[in-house]
Amino acid sequence: DRLERLAAEIDRDATVVALTGAGISAPSGVPTFRGEDGVWEHFDEGQFTYGRFRSDPEGFWADRVALQRELFGEEYEPNAAHEALAAMGRDGYLDAVLTQNTDGLHRDAADVADRADVADRADRADRAAEDGNRGDDPGAGDDTPAGTGQTPILELHGNARRVRCTDCGRRRDGDPIFDRAADGDLPPTCDCGGIYKPDVVLFGEQLPGAVVQRARTLTRDSDVFLAIGSSLVVEPAASFPREAGATGATVGIVNLESTPVDGAADVVYRDDVTEALPRLRSLLERGADG
Ligand code: OAD
Repeated sequence: DRLERLAAEIDRDATVVALTGAGISAPSGVPTFRGEDGVWEHFDEGQFTYGRFRSDPEGFWADRVALQRELFGEEYEPNAAHEALAAMGRDGYLDAVLTQNTDGLHRDAADVADRADVADRADRADRAAEDGNRGDDPGAGDDTPAGTGQTPILELHGNARRVRCTDCGRRRDGDPIFDRAADGDLPPTCDCGGIYKPDVVLFGEQLPGAVVQRARTLTRDSDVFLAIGSSLVVEPAASFPREAGATGATVGIVNLESTPVDGAADVVYRDDVTEALPRLRSLLERGADG
């Protein structure tokens, strides 16, 4: 079938890049933005722009607290799809994850997959702490530790578990700051007096340049490009599958619904990610055995 065709293109020598969207986290209980019962049916997208954050930070934060609760209010964990990608990375079948998601679940899954490697985890924790105290670093969505053998995870839209001071650039764990905002401390401010912003890319805001640059390079260098659980309508990520195809990659799309890019893909596989990705992984393992 189609997934077998895709699996046949993937081996350890191929450069394989995955781009993920909200659909991969839906089975973890994080709602999607579009599609059935998407978040943008309950919330007005226009209230979460960078322009509004600048002109009305208090109102922005009040609405963002509600959105944050809707998106991440329930406890959530990586699902079988995140785990399958993490395992593919560990086994040498996946070279990078580019994600539009801000939920941090790919990182969590990579930790789970690497559980045995204690030193590696400690190193990551150190670097995460360091990252929390770093100043102005546009590459913060690209803080995958180098030299640990871990599959790079590029968070194109940032990480909603963190906040960042718009003056001094400090990053902080988001939970206590969101709690403060929920208690009426609006907008929440840093010790330096600057206003915190959720450490995500808002509509109308530039994506972190270094991360996008690296994502583009990975996309163009890929032999196989997989778009997973994304409606593929938000730029620049929406263009990545076409760019990969134009530079010779085999493009596969795994999604429940059709996307505007389906016509340009080599393989379109319409299935739940928690079915498709574990199956893809086991096809690869079988291929390696046989
Ligand atoms: P969307 O919500 O636009 O699309 C999610 C896609 O996942 C839909 O096409 C669903 O059909 C599909 N889907 C849902 N559950 C699935 C499942 N279990 N298995 C397979 N597919 C499933 O999410 P994104 O494409 O990620 O931007 O949205 C892109 C950006 O738009 C987001 O990063 C966010 C949003 O506005 C910012 O916050 C800047």
